[in-house]
Amino acid sequence: MKANDENKVLAVWGSPGCGKTTVSAKIAKYVSGRKKNTILLCCDTDAPPLPLLLPPSDIESEQSVGSILAAARISDNLIMQNLITVKKNAYISVLSMLKGENQYSYPKYTQKQAQELIEHLKNIADFVIIDCGSHISDDVLSTVALMESDCVLRLINCDLKSISYLSSQLPLLVDKKFRADKQIRVANDVKSIHSGENIEQVLGGVTFTLPHTEHVENQYLAGELLKDLCTNKETKQFRKTIGAIAEEVFEL
Ligand SMILES: Nc1ncnc2c1ncn2[C@@H]1O[C@H](COP(=O)(O)OP(=O)(O)OP(=O)(O)O)[C@@H](O)[C@H]1O
Ligand SMILES: [Mg+2]
Repeated sequence: MKANDENKVLAVWGSPGCGKTTVSAKIAKYVSGRKKNTILLCCDTDAPPLPLLLPPSDIESEQSVGSILAAARISDNLIMQNLITVKKNAYISVLSMLKGENQYSYPKYTQKQAQELIEHLKNIADFVIIDCGSHISDDVLSTVALMESDCVLRLINCDLKSISYLSSQLPLLVDKKFRADKQIRVANDVKSIHSGENIEQVLGGVTFTLPHTEHVENQYLAGELLKDLCTNKETKQFRKTIGAIAEEVFEL
C-alpha cells in the first residue's frame, strides 16, 4: 500500500552533535521494518555519515548523491541509479556523499535542484527521512528540506549548547515557509541528571524524550546505526520512543 501523500517526508534538524544522524537512521530502520520502502537522505557534506550507518560489507551498491544534484535535470531513474542499496534489506536505501567527498567534489547546485530531488523521492519511496546538517545558512539541501518536508523534528540535547544553537538559528527560520512553529520538539540523549522539570524549563516543552542509551552509542562507534537494536531492557525506552515518533509522523 502506498503511504498517504501528505506524510511522506520527515526532516530531522537540530544543534551540532545532538544526534540527528543517529535518530534519522533509527527512524528509517523502524519504518523499513514495517515493510515500507524507505530512503534515508543524508545532507552532511563535512563528514558524510555513510561510514556510521553500515559496514562496507553490508553495502550492495555505492553511489553518491552528488551525482544526482550535479545533473541539470533530476528524474526518478537518475535517483534509482544512484541509490546506495543495502544487502539483505530491500526496504531501505541511502542517499549520501561518499567517504572522501566534500562540498567541492561536485558543481554547486541550486535550491530548485534540491526541491526537485525531494519531489522525486516522494515518487519512488513510501517514506523519506532527511538527516539535515546544522549549518543551515550555507547548506542548500538542508534548508530546502526544512521548507519542503511534511514534518520536521527539532532535535535537541538538554544542554546550553542546544539552547544557544536554537536562539542563534531559529531567527533564520522566521519566514512562514519554514513553519517553525509546527516542528515537533524532541529531546535526545537525555541522562538521569536531566530531570523532567529541568528539560521543560530549559527547552520550553518537548513532545518526545529519547534517553541516553549505551547500546546506541556503541552502534555509532561500530558504524552500525542501520543495524537492529538489541531488544534488552537498556534499549526499551529508546526503541519505544523511536516507534512512537515514526507512528505519529507517518501515521503508520
Ligand atoms: N540517544 C543516544 N544515546 C547515546 N548516545 C547518543 C544518543 N544520540 C546520539 N548519541 C551520540 O551522540 C553523538 C553524536 O551523534 P550524531 O552524530 O548522530 O549527531 P549529529 O547531530 O548527527 O551530529 P552532526 O551535527 O555532527 O551531524 C554520537 O557519539 C552518538 O553516539
Ligand atoms: Mg550528523
